Amino acid sequence: MLHLIDRIKSAFQGQPRFDESLITNEWFKAHFFYATDLIHDWMGKELDLRQSKLLNFGCGDGISDLALMLRYGAQRIHGVDIRQEFKKLPKIAREQLHLQRLPKGLSFENIQPSQSLAGKHQVDGIMSWSTFEHVQRDQVLPIARDLFQCLRPGGVFFLQIEPLYYSAWGAHLRRYIDTPWVHLLVSEEELWQRIQAYEGELDMGEVDYGFDDFGVDGYKRFVFKEYQHLNRLTADELIALMQEAGFEVVRQQKNHMQDMPPLPLLEHYPQEVLTNNEILLLLRRPGA
Ligand SMILES: C[S@@+](CC[C@H](N)C(=O)[O-])C[C@H]1O[C@@H](n2cnc3c(N)ncnc32)[C@H](O)[C@@H]1O
Repeated sequence: MLHLIDRIKSAFQGQPRFDESLITNEWFKAHFFYATDLIHDWMGKELDLRQSKLLNFGCGDGISDLALMLRYGAQRIHGVDIRQEFKKLPKIAREQLHLQRLPKGLSFENIQPSQSLAGKHQVDGIMSWSTFEHVQRDQVLPIARDLFQCLRPGGVFFLQIEPLYYSAWGAHLRRYIDTPWVHLLVSEEELWQRIQAYEGELDMGEVDYGFDDFGVDGYKRFVFKEYQHLNRLTADELIALMQEAGFEVVRQQKNHMQDMPPLPLLEHYPQEVLTNNEILLLLRRPGA
């Protein structure tokens, strides 16, 4: 009887139980471990994530938010996104972790593309993973200013983009076209023709849970449209915009690929920009 009461208690209180040895989906695995570890490494040096109120801008399906809570003890995370992939999280987590319910402090919100969050949210930390390259260019600064207002003075914002537009895989089309810098070398029409013609397997580490909704051809259209809407920000442009919004840079890391870009591209773009595939930024709202 006591055993049964304990199980009922654990089902409704505290952190829910999970089993990470059950994970089979590559996308889930990459977010549950790799992305989450990096977010934790960068933010955890400045904030005690277990005590902090966190906001994830562009949370997608919310897998890394869930992992920050289950694996690192974060207690309060609010994810916002213009899509509603996070609605799939309870089912995904049941399948991949045998998780019976999401943690109590995890919440999600569907927002409009430039909806103001300041005033409604006041947090200690913000994270944004692979999202800012998708924000319309003229919305980047207003959104950065709004996120600045959401942070308490002294709070930090971890921002990651990979791949950056001008790098080898910056089109986000590698799952269909395995040619580096192809988007800077051929026309948009040719890119679309090559995507349409693709009949091979997809790298499951790059296939998100949206694939099930779109189907094979719908997913091609979705991925191509995402490519067309990329804002093409370079790392330096992003940093300058964040500083203009008021943030100070605590730490920055530009990762570069070793591959040599094709000569015709080097005549048009700086080598530094063509090889810089990732930017990791830790920003702070000054004033604590
Ligand atoms: C490549 S996904 C990354 C999602 C998630 N961070 C992850 O790592 O799986 C980019 C996300 O940014 C979201 N997004 C794009 N523009 C946005 C905006 N203006 N405001 C909020 N979310 C946005 C998209 O809906 C999408 O979920």
